[in-house]
Amino acid sequence: MTFKAALYGWTATTLRTLDHHGVRLRYPYRDRIMFENHILPAIAGDDSIRRVLMVGCGWYTHHYPALLGDTEVTTIDLDAAKRPFGGDSHIVGNLTTLGDHIPDEGLDAVLCNGVLGWGLNEPADVEQAFTACIDCLRPGGLLLLGWNNHPPYNRVSPEDIPAFAGLEPVRVPGLDAHRIVALPRNQHCFQAFQKPFSD
Ligand SMILES: C[S@@+](CC[C@H](N)C(=O)[O-])C[C@H]1O[C@@H](n2cnc3c(N)ncnc32)[C@H](O)[C@@H]1O
Repeated sequence: MTFKAALYGWTATTLRTLDHHGVRLRYPYRDRIMFENHILPAIAGDDSIRRVLMVGCGWYTHHYPALLGDTEVTTIDLDAAKRPFGGDSHIVGNLTTLGDHIPDEGLDAVLCNGVLGWGLNEPADVEQAFTACIDCLRPGGLLLLGWNNHPPYNRVSPEDIPAFAGLEPVRVPGLDAHRIVALPRNQHCFQAFQKPFSD
């Protein structure tokens, strides 16, 4: 085991112990509060969303599957060391290969926050990753994107992603807009799309 994996494992265990005692460490920023207090609870309360993929893990996301209540959550991260921060169902792998793990139309929602521009950077990889996500979404499924419209993280923006052309803009769950800047200083945006229902 690498030092990083051991450190993350220890951190995750410590965070879960604190959680168990009612102490939840979290980022206090406006974008995180919006995600954790409004968007995730709205998704948890939507009966049409039962199977969710959360992309990208960190110490501050370890409790996100729990925030989705009894929704079936799978997490994915390219970095094997992040495994301890993932959910009970976790994939170590690249989002570009999601189809190797999830069947077509096997998801009701994909939540992809802080991954575009944060490792998923090359246009061809971005296109492959989101094509895979869309294939795995059922018709009417939700793709929630969190991204930073700020260099160097916006080298590829949603407007530049051909796979998004077939999606319909919808309101971000829990909010009243299709796109919202959650934190002005880093232009962290949440933006929501729906896979069209078949004709
Ligand atoms: C900045 S963190 C974002 C974590 C979290 N989703 C959030 O809400 O902030 C980015 C994470 O995405 C992962 N990642 C980057 N590119 C990826 C890819 N192509 N497939 C899967 N995970 C990826 C990184 O390993 C990293 O753990």
